[in-house]
Amino acid sequence: MIKISPSILSADFSNLGHDVERVEKGGAEYLHIDVMDGVFVPNISLGASVQKSIRKQSNMVFDTHLMIINPIRYIDDFAKAGSDIITIHLESCDNVEETLDKIHSLGIKAGLSIKPKTPIEAIKPYIGKFDMLLIMSVEPGFGGQSFIPESLDKIKEARTLLGDLDIEVDGGINADNINTIVKAGANILVAGSAVFGNDNLTEAIATLRKNGEK
Ligand code: DX5
Ligand code: ZN
Repeated sequence: MIKISPSILSADFSNLGHDVERVEKGGAEYLHIDVMDGVFVPNISLGASVQKSIRKQSNMVFDTHLMIINPIRYIDDFAKAGSDIITIHLESCDNVEETLDKIHSLGIKAGLSIKPKTPIEAIKPYIGKFDMLLIMSVEPGFGGQSFIPESLDKIKEARTLLGDLDIEVDGGINADNINTIVKAGANILVAGSAVFGNDNLTEAIATLRKNGEK
């Protein structure tokens, strides 16, 4: 069974509450919330206050992806704003273990993410300290990019290394490539443009799931 995590980066921000409701009704289990600081990545997106306001109307698993420098500064804020999982980047700080521990101390699942050029090898010191690995399959910063094919080998390598642990993949996933990505070992699939780029979000989510599980 796979989980689909629509990325709100591709939603209509002037109608965010409505879009969140549409993906929840459409059958998505997770909601992927991309937080960008304009330093770790070139783009700025949204902060904890936006997440807090959508938390009130949704029961989805809030899957917060922090693309920010020194994320330990904001763990409390996102915990209060209702994250169920907080993912930090291995490349974003020197105190990765302390940051993962901090997330756990607040009763929240901790995710560890790596950018396309970071090898799987780099996560080895932290195995046992995180609940989900997030493999970026595009350079973080923007929605709508193409899936980097070399990511497939990283997903396979991670699956062999991590056993049953959750492996999320983020970037460039669509109805045509999702099956290969699931076969490689991913079980949580982020999709921004492949969901919100359609008028019928329920149909888009169902197609991703069907193609992913076939
Ligand atoms: C990129 C973000 C992704 C992005 C995915 O930095 O982390 O979550 O929104 O968008 P698509 O699915 O359009 O590549
Ligand atoms: Zn993301």
